[in-house]
Amino acid sequence: MNEEQLSEIFDYYAALPDPRRQENLVAMLREIQDVLGCVPDGVAAQAARAVGEKPVVLTSLVRRFSTLKSAAWSHRITACSGARCGARQGAEVYRALCEVLRPGPDGVSENGRVLLCTQNCLKQCRTSPNVLADGVLHPHMTPESARELARKLLEE
Ligand code: FES
Repeated sequence: MNEEQLSEIFDYYAALPDPRRQENLVAMLREIQDVLGCVPDGVAAQAARAVGEKPVVLTSLVRRFSTLKSAAWSHRITACSGARCGARQGAEVYRALCEVLRPGPDGVSENGRVLLCTQNCLKQCRTSPNVLADGVLHPHMTPESARELARKLLEE
């Protein structure tokens, strides 16, 4: 059933006048995610072939758009890797998150529930070090509050 739905999505977007336009690619990825719950790299590559785009373009879009995900994780934590957060224990906060989440090379925690990624400056430097969890800013983090946050999200 999923295969059939995916084929329909690929065919629909491939037939658009400009299927490689970014807004069309993102709309296609959103529809795929509605069907599968996420956009695994292999499916993004299939979608890319269907519209004549490079697979890396689609997998990059999945990573860039916070509403898209490549695996069926439930929570996303973004640790700031900017200089100001770095000067205030940002690296220690990140290490504390890793300690609890134990992310694999794809950034997903061992139990598959939390994606950990970094961003160079969350544009909230005055409250550094900062972490975003599911789009909510957690200011003035410490390694201990980072561990607590990670443990909470791992269990939710
Ligand atoms: S450096 Fe972290 S919010 Fe700017």
